[in-house]
Amino acid sequence: MINIDWKNLPFGYQKTDYNVRTYFRNGRWGSLELSSSEYINMHMAATTLHYGQEAFEGMKAFMGKDGKIRLFRWEENAKRMNASARKLMMAEVPLELFKKAIIKAIKHNKKYVPPYGSGASLYIRPLLVGSGPQVGVKPATEYLFIVFVTPVGPYFKEGFKPVQMLISRKYDRAAPQGTGHVKAGGNYAAGLEAMSIAHAGGYASVLFLDSKDKKYIDECGPANFFGIKNNIYITPKSPSILPSITNMSLMSLAEEIGMKVERRQVEVPELETFEEVGACGTAAVISPIGRIFDEENNKSYDYCKDGNPGPISTKLYEKLQAIQNGDEEDKFGWIEFVD
Ligand code: PLP
Ligand code: COI
Repeated sequence: MINIDWKNLPFGYQKTDYNVRTYFRNGRWGSLELSSSEYINMHMAATTLHYGQEAFEGMKAFMGKDGKIRLFRWEENAKRMNASARKLMMAEVPLELFKKAIIKAIKHNKKYVPPYGSGASLYIRPLLVGSGPQVGVKPATEYLFIVFVTPVGPYFKEGFKPVQMLISRKYDRAAPQGTGHVKAGGNYAAGLEAMSIAHAGGYASVLFLDSKDKKYIDECGPANFFGIKNNIYITPKSPSILPSITNMSLMSLAEEIGMKVERRQVEVPELETFEEVGACGTAAVISPIGRIFDEENNKSYDYCKDGNPGPISTKLYEKLQAIQNGDEEDKFGWIEFVD
């Protein structure tokens, strides 16, 4: 048995035993290689290092009460990684290869899957990088696909407790026709400065607005935004946000519990009208938002006035986790067992 304090795990990197790798060379993918090294050896002119040809994914596996490992919606992540690959002109990873790689990485690190009831999970991080050299700005001809896993706890240290978000018009994350809708590493570098300013002010994240008009809500750093009012689940529609698989799942669950779902533009003043608001993502799960501060207008929007998450956010959170942990029937076919 390994000695990990599962209940107090942060969302961070922890070494596991193996990762899985394969290269795309001469127009085709090679075989999957199991590696125990945490390092990669790469050409110094690799396109990922110079021109940001890189995309990644994030998904989770959970241990059920029945001792079975459940992988959540891997196919959506595989499809999204290929959407990123196309946008950044990288080689796509066939769905079967993607699946084999993640299952292999989980199977060889079974002892790191956090136990049922710990609140932690195994985070799976596939990444695709241009590893071949170029000096002119051109796509690489060689790509490396790696999958590593690491056990994680909640992304926002508050866990399922209300967090604060900052609206600041001084920073943009992604342009409307840029790369915001794919999971390019460069999007995260572009958001680092804004995020560090938010953190220094005690905010969990920046709530980014659309960068053209600065009028509509885009997303919450590494998570999508949703608001709830009058039994409607409302989430922004924007060309510069990442289509979150968690958000997609919450929309299905909201419909299942009899709510209406709207995906549309959300203007900042509409924040006043929501009964509950939250951030959602693989890492964040649901993070209820207790307060949003709009810096330029010196205005704050307050929710969760009793200090607790709202009833609908709580219900959606519990339902999602119950499916992931195997406590509730997987009606939607979201779970793949790893044996
Ligand atoms: N938005 C951004 C920018 C993200 O990085 C993530 C995390 O993957 C999300 C939203 C949430 O997406 P998902 O639910 O697929 O993890
Ligand atoms: C995720 O939710 O999987 C993310 O990728 C968020 C963040 C750690 C980048």
